[in-house]
Amino acid sequence: MKKTVISNWNAKIVLIALFAAFSAFAVSCEKDEIVKVQPPPNSCDTINITFQTTIQPIIAQKCQSCHSNSTQLGGENLEGYDNIKSSALSGRLLDALEGSMQGYLNDACEFLKIRAWINKGAPND
Ligand code: HEC
Repeated sequence: MKKTVISNWNAKIVLIALFAAFSAFAVSCEKDEIVKVQPPPNSCDTINITFQTTIQPIIAQKCQSCHSNSTQLGGENLEGYDNIKSSALSGRLLDALEGSMQGYLNDACEFLKIRAWINKGAPND
């Protein structure tokens, strides 16, 4: 008789432990989902970009020392909208930025901004 009482208690403890473990698991899943929908802390804004305010300043600062009207290394001129646009629409600009010219940019965000501008048709906005 005594034995049955003990094993009932054991069964209850096991059930409580299982319930606690499952609850902890369920809560941790919920937390994961909440984290996933939050924007990353250093999110890169690729929406509010224009040629005049975003693209032109990056290229002037990072690229024109080697790609301008006076210095055209690799035969590439990136001075002024018309030259930048033709490089963008031919695919040369993106190819270069995915390859050997990547290191001249500050970070991935600058690359994403230029790519977003090219993807919207490289407008003079
Ligand atoms: C220190 C000099 C220097 C800087 C700064 C520089 N480039 Fe270049 N770039 C070169 C040289 C040299 C070549 C030719 C050899 C090569 O393609 O690697 C070239 C070639 C290119 C080409 C032509 C590639 C082709 O296939 O015809 C493009 C486009 C280009 N660069 C874009 C850029 C962009 C965009 C930046 C700024 C983020 C930049 N470059 C910064 C030196 C530079």
